[in-house]
Amino acid sequence: MFKKSFNRELLLKLFNTIDRPMSKTKDIACNISVNHGNEVYNGEKMIAPAASRNKDPILQVLKRFIICDIEQIEDESPLFLEISSGTGQHVAHFAPHFPGVKFQPSDVDKNVLGSLSFYATNCPTKNILKPILIDIQSKLSHYGFEENSIDYMYNANMIHITPFECTIGLFENAGNYLKPEALMITYGPYSKDGVLTPQSNIDFDASLKARNPLWGIRDINDLIKLGDENNLSLIDTVEMPANNMTLIWKKD
Ligand SMILES: C[S@@+](CC[C@H](N)C(=O)[O-])C[C@H]1O[C@@H](n2cnc3c(N)ncnc32)[C@H](O)[C@@H]1O
Repeated sequence: MFKKSFNRELLLKLFNTIDRPMSKTKDIACNISVNHGNEVYNGEKMIAPAASRNKDPILQVLKRFIICDIEQIEDESPLFLEISSGTGQHVAHFAPHFPGVKFQPSDVDKNVLGSLSFYATNCPTKNILKPILIDIQSKLSHYGFEENSIDYMYNANMIHITPFECTIGLFENAGNYLKPEALMITYGPYSKDGVLTPQSNIDFDASLKARNPLWGIRDINDLIKLGDENNLSLIDTVEMPANNMTLIWKKD
């Protein structure tokens, strides 16, 4: 979809049709647009309006949980692996605030690699690694990770926009590849004790299921069960703007 050989005008038209202003319900999937202001980015920098809005509230939560020692030498810097990075705006926003942490963006979709590379290359603190393709349904060893080697895993807005198998893969991988006592942070909409509120989240859930019956907002209790099966405990839940939550999981 983002191949350079595409006619630029056609591409912008396409993005404009799928980009829409913030809805009262919820942003659906990746609302992606190319930045076509005064700057030219070879069509590779992607911007999702939802990510532009939520990246700073999420950063404020991360500041409470991520330990950043700027004296740390590069090879020993903690590794922060993002699953399903999308445009790459999240790590681009986070990385300069944690210069002693190495950020590894990833996605299953090769079409976003150009944007992820753009943000990595232009990071002023140079602590974003080259993006990699990861399908979270596969074991992270397929991508060169060793068990008990990752300091932080982070995932925003994938759990409800994928079949539940992806969530299972996320938790299994976190359970196996995080270091003991390391954290996984997940962000998105969730229901609690089987109750989904407010109405905008109910509508959003219905719209997700209409697009794909295997998608949908997950209940925190189901995630806690998955956590139990994978040595992950929910240690904190943070209410976020627009009826989202950040969940903090700790490996035993
Ligand atoms: C709604 S976007 C979220 C992007 C970004 N995290 C954000 O919050 O802006 C969902 C992302 O999940 C990715 N995704 C879907 N299935 C996946 C899988 N099996 N493994 C990894 N990523 C996946 C998609 O490619 C897409 O980039």
